[in-house]
Amino acid sequence: MDKLIIKGGLPLQGSIRISGAKNSALPILAATLLSQDDCLISNVPDLADVAVISEILRHLGVEVQMVGPGLLKANASGLCDFAAPYDLVTKMRAAFFAIGPILARMGHARIPLPGGCTIGSRPVDLHLKGLRSLGAKVTIEHGYVEAQADQLVGGNIYLDFPSVGATETIMMAATLAEGTTVIENCAQEPEIVDLADFLNGMGAKVSGAGSQTITIEGVRRLGGCTHRIIPDRIEAGTFMVAAAITKGDLTLEGVRLDHMQAIVSKLSEAGVVITPVGDEAVRVTVEGPLNPIDVRTMPYPGFPTDMQAQIMTLLATIEGTSVVTEMVFENRFLHIDELVRMGANIKAEGNVAVIQGVAQLTGAPVKSTDLRAGAAMILAGMAARGETVVTGLHHIDRGYEAIGDRLSAAGADIHRVEQRTEQVVV
Ligand code: UD1
Repeated sequence: MDKLIIKGGLPLQGSIRISGAKNSALPILAATLLSQDDCLISNVPDLADVAVISEILRHLGVEVQMVGPGLLKANASGLCDFAAPYDLVTKMRAAFFAIGPILARMGHARIPLPGGCTIGSRPVDLHLKGLRSLGAKVTIEHGYVEAQADQLVGGNIYLDFPSVGATETIMMAATLAEGTTVIENCAQEPEIVDLADFLNGMGAKVSGAGSQTITIEGVRRLGGCTHRIIPDRIEAGTFMVAAAITKGDLTLEGVRLDHMQAIVSKLSEAGVVITPVGDEAVRVTVEGPLNPIDVRTMPYPGFPTDMQAQIMTLLATIEGTSVVTEMVFENRFLHIDELVRMGANIKAEGNVAVIQGVAQLTGAPVKSTDLRAGAAMILAGMAARGETVVTGLHHIDRGYEAIGDRLSAAGADIHRVEQRTEQVVV
C-alpha cells in the first residue's frame, strides 16, 4: 500500500550509479542450481525479484546468503527437491526459468505453469519445445509442468521467436546434456551473454552467445565460479529519460553503452545529448527543444520493450507527433490511461500509439500497472506541474533499487510514504 509522492519540475543533477542487471541476476541465480560448489556473484541488485528467486532456491535446498554488499554466495550441493512452490513461482514469471537447471540436475522438475500477466499472456511453449528437443518428457497436469529425463541429450532447436527466457532455459539445461545442442534464432540480449559467461565460468562449453545461434557442448559436471553481473541497461535507460524529461544534467556511472545502442540512438534522435565520460560513465543533458520520434520495440539489438513506457512518457512531453509501436508484448500499453490522467494526449489502436506532445503534464494520482509502467509514472511525475501520487509500488520494487531515494539524491522531490494495511479483526 506504499505510495510515492512526487513534486515535479526539478531538473536532475549530479550522478547516479547504475545497479547490476535484474534480468541477468535472475537466470544466473537459477543457474547456480547446476553446480554443487560455491558460486560467488557480485553486483547483485537489491530487488524484490532477487529475494523471490533466492527464496525459491532455499526452498529447493540451496544455501543462499548475502556475504557483503551486492555479494551473494550460493551453494546447491544440498539440492533435494525438484518441485518449485506455487506461491513463489507465480509471484515472478522468471522463476519458471529454474525448470532447466532443476531438470538437468535432478532428472525431474515440477514447476507451476506461470499464469498470464498484465502485459500479455506470456506462454512458455518455446521453453517446453526446447526441453523436449533435449529428450525430456514434458506434460502439463493440474497447473504444473512436469519434465523428466534421466539424462538429457543434445538436440537442434529452432525458436519461432527469439525468446529471452526460452533461450536461457534451454542453454542452462543443455550444459549438462550428453552431446551438442544448437539453438537457432535465439535471443541475443546482453543478459544472454552474461549467463553464458557465468556458465562458462562454471566449466560449461557455451559458444555463440550474443549471436543468432548458440552451441552448447554438454559436460558431465559444473563447478563453482565467481562472476560480476553486468550493469542494468534498462535502469540506465530509465535514468537517461529521467535526465531528459527534467531537462537536467545527469551523469550515470557504471554503464555499458555498448549494450544500449538502440536506446542511445533513439534518445539522440530526439535531441538528448549523451556523452561518454571515461570508460563506464555517461553524461546526459538537454540543450534545446527536443524532437518527436517514432519508436518500434524489437528483440535485441532492437529497441527494448522494457523501455517503451519510459520513452513514450518522454515523447508525451515533446511537441509534435510521435508514434510508438509495440512488437514484443500484445498488451503493453496500460500506462497510456495513467499518462492521459496527467494530461498526455495519446491514442492507441492495437499495438500502435500516436502521441501528440503537450507543453506540460500535470500531477495526478496514478498507479503502476507493471514494473516499467511504474517507472514511467515516476518520470511523468518528475516532469509534471504539481503533485503526483504513485501507487502500486510493489511492481516498481521488483526492478528498481531504492529508485525514489536515488532520484531524490540527484535533486528530485520524491517521498515514499509507508502505509500499513490495517487488519480488521472480526
Ligand atoms: C524477458 C525479460 C523481460 C523482457 C522480455 C522481452 C527477464 C527476466 N525478463 O522476459 O523483462 O520484457 O524478455 O525482452 O529476462 N513467448 C512465447 N512463447 C514462449 C516464450 C515467449 O510466445 O515460450 C513470447 C512472449 O509471449 C512474448 C515474447 O515471446 O510475446 C517475448 O518473450 P520473452 O523474450 O520470452 O520474454 P521473457 O523471457 O519472459
